[in-house]
Amino acid sequence: MSTVFNFTFVPWFRSVAPYIHMHRGKTFVVAISGEAIEAGKLPSLVQDLAMIQSMGVKIVLVHGFRPQVNEQLAAKGHTPQYSHGMRITDSVALDCAQEAAGQLRYEIEAAFSQGLPNTPMAGATVRVISGNFITAKPVGILDGVDFQNSGLVRKVDVPGLSKILNLGAMVLLSPFGFSPTGEAFNLTMEEVATSVAIALQADKLIFVTEVPGIRSRPQDPAGEDNPIDTELPLAEAERLLAKEPSPTQPTDTGFYLQHCVKACKAGVERSHILPFAVDGVLLLEIYVHDGIGTMVVDERLESLREANSDDLGGVLQLIEPFEQDGTLVRRERTEIERDIGNYSVIDHDGVIFGCAALYAYPENRTGEMAALTVSPHSQGQGDGEKILRRIEQRAKAQDLDSIFVLTTRTMHWFLKRGFVQVPIEWLPEARQRKYNVDRRSVVLVKKLNTN
Ligand SMILES: CC(C)(COP(=O)(O)OP(=O)(O)OC[C@H]1O[C@@H](n2cnc3c(N)ncnc32)[C@H](O)[C@@H]1OP(=O)(O)O)[C@@H](O)C(=O)NCCC(=O)NCCS
Repeated sequence: MSTVFNFTFVPWFRSVAPYIHMHRGKTFVVAISGEAIEAGKLPSLVQDLAMIQSMGVKIVLVHGFRPQVNEQLAAKGHTPQYSHGMRITDSVALDCAQEAAGQLRYEIEAAFSQGLPNTPMAGATVRVISGNFITAKPVGILDGVDFQNSGLVRKVDVPGLSKILNLGAMVLLSPFGFSPTGEAFNLTMEEVATSVAIALQADKLIFVTEVPGIRSRPQDPAGEDNPIDTELPLAEAERLLAKEPSPTQPTDTGFYLQHCVKACKAGVERSHILPFAVDGVLLLEIYVHDGIGTMVVDERLESLREANSDDLGGVLQLIEPFEQDGTLVRRERTEIERDIGNYSVIDHDGVIFGCAALYAYPENRTGEMAALTVSPHSQGQGDGEKILRRIEQRAKAQDLDSIFVLTTRTMHWFLKRGFVQVPIEWLPEARQRKYNVDRRSVVLVKKLNTN
C-alpha cells in the first residue's frame, strides 16, 4: 500500500513543486463571478485560495454579484435594466447592489474565518481586508440613456493595496467605487478586476466563470466541439474579438475575453478564463502544466517566435556546446539550415537564448521535438517550459495527437512535464530506422491535450 502511495504521491509532488516555486511572491487578481457563488462554489474556492495564498501568492479577490442583485430586484418587483451591455443603476438597483455586496462580503469573510476545519487548510488563518480602494466616475449618459449610478473605475489606490498585500493579507473587493464627493457607483466585477490587475501590474488576472473557456475554432468539420484553447496568444484573442459578435460565442465569453485582452495589452502577462464547474479549477490552472480553461498570453513580451534564416547563426551558437558535450545529437548544418522553419526560438534584443524544433510525422499523427535548448545563462527561469508549450501549440495546429523526444540526460525534466517513457518500437518506422543504437536514447511521449 505504502509503495503504491510513494509511486503516486512522490512524482505528483515533484511535478507540482516547480510551480509553487515559480509563483511564490507573485500577485494574482482573482475575480469570482456571482454565478459561481450562486452555484455553491464559494467554500471550495475559498479553500483553494487559502492554499494558494499559503504558498506565497499575493491575492486580490474581486467578487461579482449579477445574479444576487437581480434576485434582490425581483424580490422588490423590479426588472433589471440594461443598455449597451451594462446595468442601469437607478436608486432601487443601487440599494439592491449595496445589499447584495454587503451580504456577499459577509459570506466570503465568514468562509475565510472558519479556520477551515476538516480541509487541507485546517488551522490556517487567512486575514481578509476590504476597503475603499477604488475611485469611481459615472458612466453618464450614452446615446441618450442615463446610466445613473453605474460607474467606471477612475483610480485604483495602488499604495494602499500593496501595503495590505505586503502584510500577508488578502484583499477583498466588491464591484463598487466611490466618487471624491462620496457618491457610490455600481461597477462590473470584470472592470474592477482588470483595472486592479493593470494598476498593480499583477502577474495574473483570473476570471472564475460560468463559461468553460475560449474555443478559437468552435467546431470541427464533423460539427463536434473543438477543444478549449488552453493557451490563446494575444493576437489571436484580438482577432476573435474583432469577429464579435460571433454567433458561436456566448456574449459573456466575449465580455471576459475583452477584459483579458485589455489586461494583457496593458502589461499583465497572463489572463485566464476558468470554469467554476470544475472542482479545484484554480489549482489545476496554476499548478499543472497544461492547465484548464483558457490563458491569454502576450507572447511579444517573451519574444517567442518561429525562426527564420537570419536565426541560423544564433541557433548554432546555442546548440553547439550541447552537441559537443553529447547532450544533443549532432545535426548537419545544412540540415538545420534547410529545416530552420521547424524551429521556434526565444530572442531577447536579437540574441537567441532558447530553441527547439518540431519534426512532424503526419501519417503517425505525432512529431519529434528536437534540439530543445536554453542558454546556460538563462536556464531555470521557465524558458524551457515556454518553448515546450510553443512546440505543443505548433503540433496541435498540425493536428498531431502527441509529441515525442529522444533524450539521454534530460529524462526527468520531460517526465515532470507529462511525458511518459515508451519502447523504441513506438516510434514511427521512419524514425526507428534513424535511431542510433549506440546513443541508447530514451523515448518519451506526451499526449497532447484534446479535451
Ligand atoms: C532542459 C532545458 C531545456 C530546460 O530549460 P530551462 O529553461 O532551464 O527549463 P525551466 O526553467 O522550464 O525548468 C527548469 C527546471 O528544470 C530542471 N532541470 C534542468 N535540467 C534538467 C535535467 N537535465 N533533468 C531534470 N531536470 C532538469 C532545473 O533544475 C529546474 O528545476 P527547478 O525549477 O526545480 O529548479 C535546459 O536545461 C537545457 O537547455 N539543457 C541542455 C540541453 C538539453 O538537455 N536538452 C534536452 C535535449 S532532449
